Amino acid sequence: MATPIAVSKRRLHMITWGCQMNVYDSGRMADVLAPLGYAPAEAPEDADMVILNTCHIRDRAAEKVFSELGRLRVLKQAREAAGQRMILAVAGCVAQAEGAEILARAPYVDIVLGPQTYHRLPEMVARVSRAAGAVIETEFPAEDKFDFLPDAAAPQGLTAFLTIQEGCDKFCSFCVVPYTRGAEMSRPAAAVLAEARRMVAQGVREITLLGQNVNAWHGADAKGEPANFAALLAWLAEIPGLVRLRYTTSHPRDMDDALIAAHADIPAVMPFLHLPVQSGSDRMLAAMNRRHTVAHYLDIIDRLRAARPDIALSSDFIVGHPGETEADFEATLDLVRSVRFAQAFSFKYSARPGTPAAAAPGHVAPEVADRRLQTLQALLREQQAAFNDSCVGLRVPVLFAMPGRHPGQIMGKSPWMQPVHVLGDASMIGSVRQVTIAAAHTNSLAGTLEPAEGRDPVTDTPAHYEERAPV
Ligand code: SAH
Ligand code: SF4
Ligand code: F3S
Repeated sequence: MATPIAVSKRRLHMITWGCQMNVYDSGRMADVLAPLGYAPAEAPEDADMVILNTCHIRDRAAEKVFSELGRLRVLKQAREAAGQRMILAVAGCVAQAEGAEILARAPYVDIVLGPQTYHRLPEMVARVSRAAGAVIETEFPAEDKFDFLPDAAAPQGLTAFLTIQEGCDKFCSFCVVPYTRGAEMSRPAAAVLAEARRMVAQGVREITLLGQNVNAWHGADAKGEPANFAALLAWLAEIPGLVRLRYTTSHPRDMDDALIAAHADIPAVMPFLHLPVQSGSDRMLAAMNRRHTVAHYLDIIDRLRAARPDIALSSDFIVGHPGETEADFEATLDLVRSVRFAQAFSFKYSARPGTPAAAAPGHVAPEVADRRLQTLQALLREQQAAFNDSCVGLRVPVLFAMPGRHPGQIMGKSPWMQPVHVLGDASMIGSVRQVTIAAAHTNSLAGTLEPAEGRDPVTDTPAHYEERAPV
């Protein structure tokens, strides 16, 4: 019998900022390092390696990295004093955008790696272990990292992220993503389907497909004929045991008829869409290089609601982009009032080095942008509360995911992403059950379980829940 090769036990601690794509990437980095013996460490104090997976989208997001590095330096020195090592790696979008600056400001960092080079991590760790000096890998390599990532992935629980598209060619005036993530690319359908099947075999019931422009995904069918994102959703929906599909983030320009129809035709596609609009003023949308108008956006919403009357909408907004006047901001409020969002994210414009907007004239005073942000957020909060209130009294299918905060409680998600708490047994975790919503709180709903007789506990997700009153 062959003697197994002993892999020394090491501990890996990761801190992840930014979008869900970074969450997915952190998982894949852990998968790549697992064969080297790295298991998760709860705290950085116990870790032989710490990876900061960073976000560059706004100034504050990038600054967090340097303050965290300052803290880790102390821990790293303490470990070295005790004769132990801590490999410190900075990954993600700050690494891509500011790799050289990181090494200049924090020379104790061992590895700097951009989002397209994760598959090379084992080699980078080996290089750091052998030699003194830092390793920096921030080019966009010719090979595709997805072809080199291992098939074996740590189990993800009931819900999982799956990156199907990366990069962006849209170059909005304010945004760093095209520079940090590179050109738009789609993973082949066969690779996406294989990864989704593996996830479902491990117990995943809901998959959120990810991409900076997820609905720009394009590929080919088994015969090599061109296929769009709606086709990919249909193929994924056929995987037995996969009961819910979501996707984020979409761009209005790629919201085609087939995708709108998929919301009506594919029961697994949840009636929820995050569709960033950024502004309600055509003048600002042009300045932002968004390449869509307010009328175009509202038309998409109308068609989505016609296809799927219970669809809930979410969006992203930026206030205080250079050139934004009071009238432009009022137009944003008008758009919000006419769409009625179930939830939304809103940000104060943050100038990012190297983007066209950073060099544009007409920067808005911070106190003006602050006031606009508060006004917008108050309106969005009102709409979120109204949406949650409109769910009271409805029968809603809930995918139960975990024990609740209180004993005897379980927690799941509604089709519209709201956390739902009920009194129930932990054995129901993993199944979809009908719940009658009794109360709406700020960020969650509470309800009572319906008896399960005659229903399939996993696949019972009706296509339409039209009982919900319009908000
Ligand atoms: N790909 C997505 C979103 C990417 S970033 C899209 O096309 O909409 C997520 C959100 O961060 C953006 O929608 C935008 O609202 C916000 N954002 C991006 N750059 C920003 C900046 N410079 N300042 C403030 N917010 C920004
Ligand atoms: Fe950034 Fe615009 Fe691309 Fe979204 S579409 S990632 S906002 S450049
Ligand atoms: Fe941030 Fe990069 Fe995502 S900048 S939002 S982590 S793509």
